[in-house]
Amino acid sequence: MPSRTPSPLPAGSRPAGAQDESDAARRVREMFARIAPRYDLLNHLLSLGLDVVWRRRAALRFRHLLARPGVRVLDVCCGTGDLAVALARRALRERQRLHVTELVPTLVCADFAHPMLVRAREKVGTAFRPHSASGGSLVFCFLEADALALPFPEDSFDLVTAAFGFRNLANYFRGAQEIARVLRPGGELGILEFAEPAGWGAPLCRFYVRRLLPGIGAAVSGDRGAYSYLPASVAAFPTPEAVTQLLAESGFADVQVERWTAGLVAFYTARKADRAGG
Ligand SMILES: C[S@@+](CC[C@H](N)C(=O)[O-])C[C@H]1O[C@@H](n2cnc3c(N)ncnc32)[C@H](O)[C@@H]1O
Repeated sequence: MPSRTPSPLPAGSRPAGAQDESDAARRVREMFARIAPRYDLLNHLLSLGLDVVWRRRAALRFRHLLARPGVRVLDVCCGTGDLAVALARRALRERQRLHVTELVPTLVCADFAHPMLVRAREKVGTAFRPHSASGGSLVFCFLEADALALPFPEDSFDLVTAAFGFRNLANYFRGAQEIARVLRPGGELGILEFAEPAGWGAPLCRFYVRRLLPGIGAAVSGDRGAYSYLPASVAAFPTPEAVTQLLAESGFADVQVERWTAGLVAFYTARKADRAGG
């Protein structure tokens, strides 16, 4: 994997006051640890429930992979586990539809904020109770891990996903390279991320995200910093075109991006180039 950094892109997330990369990562981790108890409520409230639709739609795009016997999925920056739950539900549905019974799917949920991971485990425990209809037909693992230094050997996963987490990485290029490293050749990537709105609904979206959202977020969470960071980090994040380029330079092929909901959300998909580079 090449180890150079493309010059025109910002290196990574820099919350206000961050001195360097490790300080930025520490601030991001502490911020998400602080807001974990109210994270789900605010997510659903601030997105008017659309976050659920976005994750379901993303999971649906990977149905061809999720039905495969023994598929191995890693959800990085998993937070409270909502994308992992959507992927798991889709996997179960597809296996049932296609009558796949052998080799259950494995879903690994990784995040570096411990309180988020605790909530992910509780949520998954409730959604997929043992002895329920789906009990025993999925394997879940929860791992406190930094997406920039994943504790897995090369070629470990068939699919790696990240929902609204990639933007928070302190080094985007390293994050993309690390995901490429743990994917098997031909394995797939799905990133859901906010973007600057585009098109006819953009002014309204911008007004909401920049003017209303920070106040509502601060009032409900009691954390003004976290919900000011959100619009600031979206504004500072590379454009979809630049992210596409970054992924292409990090070992991915077939990089594609779709814009959803007035461009507020970008959904990136790609495939790890195989050894021959294609
Ligand atoms: C906005 S939340 C998204 C959570 C979840 N994926 C969702 O869809 O709601 C971002 C998450 O990324 C995690 N995160 C940010 N940087 C990380 C890193 N370097 N390694 C692991 N997790 C990270 C944070 O702790 C937080 O839980």
